[in-house]
Amino acid sequence: MRVVKKVGLIGGGVIGSAWAARLLINGIDVRLYDPAEGVERRINDVLDNAIRAYRKMTLAPVAINGVLTRVDSVQQAVTGMDFIQESGPERIDIKKALMQEICSYTDADVIVASSSSGLLPSEMQAGVNHPQRLIIGHPFNPVYLMPLVEIVGGGQTTAQVKQAAAKFYQNIGMHPLIVKREIEAFLADRMMEVLWREALHLLNEDIATVAELDQAICYGAGIRWSFMGPFETFRIAGGEGGMRHFMAQFGPSLKWPWARFDGPDLTDQLLDTLVAQSDEQAAGRSILELERNRDDCIVSVLQALRSNDYAAGKTLKRYEEKLYEVSHQAAMSESDAGVHDVRQPLKLHTDSVQPEWTDYNNHMTESRYIQVFGDASDALFRYIGVNQDYHAQGFSYYTAEAHINYIREVAVGQPLYVTTQILAGDQKRLHIFHSMHLGRDLGRDLSEDLNGGDTLLATTEQMLLHVNTHQGRVCPARADVAERVAKLVSAQANLERPIQVGRSIGTK
Ligand SMILES: NC(=O)c1ccc[n+]([C@@H]2O[C@H](COP(=O)([O-])OP(=O)(O)OC[C@H]3O[C@@H](n4cnc5c(N)ncnc54)[C@H](O)[C@@H]3O)[C@@H](O)[C@H]2O)c1
Repeated sequence: MRVVKKVGLIGGGVIGSAWAARLLINGIDVRLYDPAEGVERRINDVLDNAIRAYRKMTLAPVAINGVLTRVDSVQQAVTGMDFIQESGPERIDIKKALMQEICSYTDADVIVASSSSGLLPSEMQAGVNHPQRLIIGHPFNPVYLMPLVEIVGGGQTTAQVKQAAAKFYQNIGMHPLIVKREIEAFLADRMMEVLWREALHLLNEDIATVAELDQAICYGAGIRWSFMGPFETFRIAGGEGGMRHFMAQFGPSLKWPWARFDGPDLTDQLLDTLVAQSDEQAAGRSILELERNRDDCIVSVLQALRSNDYAAGKTLKRYEEKLYEVSHQAAMSESDAGVHDVRQPLKLHTDSVQPEWTDYNNHMTESRYIQVFGDASDALFRYIGVNQDYHAQGFSYYTAEAHINYIREVAVGQPLYVTTQILAGDQKRLHIFHSMHLGRDLGRDLSEDLNGGDTLLATTEQMLLHVNTHQGRVCPARADVAERVAKLVSAQANLERPIQVGRSIGTK
């Protein structure tokens, strides 16, 4: 199967626009077809949400690295693409027609996935070209944050196609789950449907309100479910006797049964109650506010699981390693290709002031200056060859001393860039000077601004020590890293020393 660099997206609604965000953040170009008006606005909102969430989730460099093109037909969206993800309306007649059209314009080795929540892939395979490459790739909302994607093959899908799709989804930070046999609604939605039916019965019978039923999940089982499914949970609930004891105790209730098989009739009264109580629960918060709150909470959960190296936290950890490696490779190829004039301060890091970085004056708060300088140091480390493998071998640079000059305030949304001057360095030390400037346009070529005299916002002088992290002591850098440092030191030896270098605080 192909290396996926370009993806064709059919449908840019809730799910299609969030697929676009995940793909673009992963540096994959996207061509999107959706006949509706207003798709651009929705995609921009979703991209904003996604970038905001990723920046909270990880310190690894993230940006919209792919290019999005909106086109006017299915044919334009899929021709020449490496992978197709269809996210049109959930109707089998529409899906079948779309699949026939998509497959007629794509080569046999291009995987065509549908985001369908429950339709059978075998039905979509009828009458399409090369049906063996058609799968369901069922994601979860919001697609840019939720790791799970269920892969379901139809009767004609090959095992290699399912494996290749799993590999692709894994590469973009997801947790693919290949479903053994096709079945309507697959795994997760089947289980969720049981809960949803019972919740609607309990609401219909006025046993609890919408808000109370939500509390019954999110203050209890919901907390556990983010890292333990029903089986592991109930094993522990059985105590030392494990699952057998649990089943002896609670097995009989399965036959009573506690929950109902059919959903309630969707009467006007039930729908009115549901909508009124849902509005009351939202308390005037917009969908955007609710989405951002949802995203913030998902990010917190993923981060907590990452520190435990458990469940979806493992996926995040592995994905972050990939993000660091990708930016390291980019820095190395820039370094090898001589993209930067090493005789000048290096411009390796750009950013913009995020809404949550600001203080009560609506300016970037002090600690974020340190963060931006830290990110600039990380960019320099990547440039000199320090990557995840290097860290895994027990080597790193630590900041031993730093001095910051805060020169100008900067407001939310404003673009920044940092230039880095190498003042001195040897095998164990790196003496550097970062200058933070107000940028003009994040999207433009970085080299343009270098001598443009953009407003200086802050500077920092830093002494970094090369350490053996296992032994907790200073040690010489690996030969290749030391060599890159030496080259930079020599290239910048004749640069003028900025006036802030060596300054101390004092009053006249
Ligand atoms: N919403 C969810 O939580 C969720 C979760 C997982 C999977 N899904 C699945 O994803 C798919 C899309 O769902 P959604 O929630 O994004 O729906 P949606 O209604 O938000 O988006 C569907 C989009 O498809 C577009 N469309 C209509 N006809 C089209 C055509 N012929 N070609 C291209 N685009 C067309 C519409 O204009 C619309 O923008 C469905 O199959 C759904 O089952 C949805």
